[in-house]
Amino acid sequence: MKKGIELYSFKEIEKIRAACRVVAEVLSVVAKSIKPGMSTWDIEMIVREETKKRGAKPAFLNYKPPFSNVRYPAAACISVNDEVVHGLPKKDKVIKEGDLVSVDFGAIINGYAGDSAITVAVGEVDPDRKRLLEATKKALERAVERAVAGNWLSDIVEAIHSTAEEYGVYPVLKYGGHGIGKKVHEEPFVPNNRKDLGKKDIKLRQGMVIAIEPMFSLGTEETVSDGDGWTVRTKDGSPAAHFEHTVAVTKQGPIVLTEI
Ligand code: MF3
Ligand code: CO
Repeated sequence: MKKGIELYSFKEIEKIRAACRVVAEVLSVVAKSIKPGMSTWDIEMIVREETKKRGAKPAFLNYKPPFSNVRYPAAACISVNDEVVHGLPKKDKVIKEGDLVSVDFGAIINGYAGDSAITVAVGEVDPDRKRLLEATKKALERAVERAVAGNWLSDIVEAIHSTAEEYGVYPVLKYGGHGIGKKVHEEPFVPNNRKDLGKKDIKLRQGMVIAIEPMFSLGTEETVSDGDGWTVRTKDGSPAAHFEHTVAVTKQGPIVLTEI
């Protein structure tokens, strides 16, 4: 099978934008709702309800991503503290003050998908965690600025990795962003770590739509997979943060579609 990068027309980008708007709205409700004492399953329930209200479908529920043979059994990925990504919501996983809670969510409307993630600090978090959050947010912001036609994929990777270095945190290996539109995961893979870029670089072109998703940890680039088959944790148990936007590369420059 030949792998290619989809290029989307203005009209199609508007359709992706509709899905992205739902994602942004749902995540904004979630951000305001997270409180100590809630379980990650409670958050999952809020996500499902808010998605339904807006006439959209959760993109991840029962979705088989290209990197797994198993369908994902929830609407949201909720990763707490040392969990980096793909955290499975659980009734017995209870959130407490000082936690970092990442909520990663995708929605589909009329056959087009949007994908975004936020990390929420629960109450007061320690200074290291604050720095980690700031670094990850800043990396996403800088990476978005580089999503310009004529730039290279490596410009995005460089923006992300160098921001991690500047803040003294670590860009996790193996996980990253992706093309998105008709499918949740399309080409190209958008690494967070220079080591994952490999030899071949890609020139960014008008009409490309990519999810950029820096994932940083306080202590290591390395991760391990959990016994549940989904949840990915830092190898050293240090906390991680994750922010993601769906971004269109257009004539007018980068457009963040997952902002309200
Ligand atoms: N934003 C996450 C990613 O791109 C979504 C994972 S989808 C899942 O990896 F189904 F695998 F959870
Ligand atoms: Co994604």
